[in-house]
Amino acid sequence: MKILLTNIKELLQIRDSSIRKISGSQLKELPTLKDAWLLIEGNIISDFGNMNTLKEIAVDQTIDCSGKIVLPTWCDSHTHLVYAGNREQEFVDRINGLSYQEIAAKGGGILNSAKKLRDTSEEDLYGQSAARLEEIIKLGTGAVEIKSGYGLTTESEVKMLKVAKQLAENYPTAIKTTFLGAHAVPEKFKDNKSGYLEHICNDMLPKIAELDLADYVDIFCEEGYFSVADTDKLLKAAAKYNLIPKIHVNQFNAIGGVRAGVENGALSVDHLEILEEEDISALKGSETMPVALPACSYFLSIPYTPGRKIIDAGLPLALATDYNPGSSPTGNMNFVVATACIKMKLTPEEAINAATINGAYAMGLSDSHGSITKGKIASLIITKEIPSYGYLPYAFGSNLIESVIINGKPL
Ligand code: NIG
Ligand code: FE
Repeated sequence: MKILLTNIKELLQIRDSSIRKISGSQLKELPTLKDAWLLIEGNIISDFGNMNTLKEIAVDQTIDCSGKIVLPTWCDSHTHLVYAGNREQEFVDRINGLSYQEIAAKGGGILNSAKKLRDTSEEDLYGQSAARLEEIIKLGTGAVEIKSGYGLTTESEVKMLKVAKQLAENYPTAIKTTFLGAHAVPEKFKDNKSGYLEHICNDMLPKIAELDLADYVDIFCEEGYFSVADTDKLLKAAAKYNLIPKIHVNQFNAIGGVRAGVENGALSVDHLEILEEEDISALKGSETMPVALPACSYFLSIPYTPGRKIIDAGLPLALATDYNPGSSPTGNMNFVVATACIKMKLTPEEAINAATINGAYAMGLSDSHGSITKGKIASLIITKEIPSYGYLPYAFGSNLIESVIINGKPL
């Protein structure tokens, strides 16, 4: 199957295949081609160029993109989109004055979702999660990472990851999975956190590895959850199963987890709402991607990750949704890109780079996703007729996506 896109007003994010991530001042550059064509063969971007170079070619379908912008689909490197039910009552509790931490301390929060998940069948969980995935695909997400972490028992963690793997089989989106058994301490281990960590290391990790259910390992490194020592211990245990870390860190407190992540070869360190100079120093010279989750800051009314400071220090930055029932009940990357511009003062170029190629890097997908590059997977967003790409974050409340092509297939 050959599909030709013609008369593209502007084709965004054209990169050489050697580019894996973009850092510092280079994030301000977004290479584009105006008045362009692009050819898809099978599921691959086979060629593109300026309209005046287009030769007569036989294709199965031509899509006229006059007035429209084409860009690679969003790469959402941090979600928890496999979950059961919702937590809108906690949302109301927060409106009425309770904090996220106070709700968690009362047995709400992650433990509330874990209870709901245990009471939900795998089939029902699949149905709820598939609906969320379908929604985000329509919103332009072509690659997504999905975490476990609402199971907190071997059986339920396996159930979550199996659902994520089933989604990967049944949908054309690229999906990476992460084992987040260390998301919270379950009720059963209430007074025995170290026992739970032992259980994760000795029982859960081997099971997840045996069933080949995860690409990455994650932990919530935070006061009241897991310490830096816990983090170090888990990441070292996971390394024996070739599980690379992508960790939750510095959401409410900076306790030294960023350095622990970097030292354990983390592919990404995520949240970073509270960031110290020491954390920036730890990231410098590393291969670890800092990931900001502005929809979580928006929803919880907590500080935004100082993205400007991170970029101005010469570091890369990725943006993701953190789609989950407690702190970010949205998987809308368009909102995330807009919020990064509006609240974190990223330019549209920086935000688009952070949500495409750098997001792909944070999922180990830079070779196949995140840019318009010959040979990469043809997963593309075609916008409605808009004046410029800056209009995407500017008109933050409008759905500006006309159609999406995932893995070579128009939806
Ligand atoms: O990334 N902070 C830890 N985990 C999730 C929220 C989990 C929840 O509240 O259900 C997050 O924000
Ligand atoms: Fe998260």
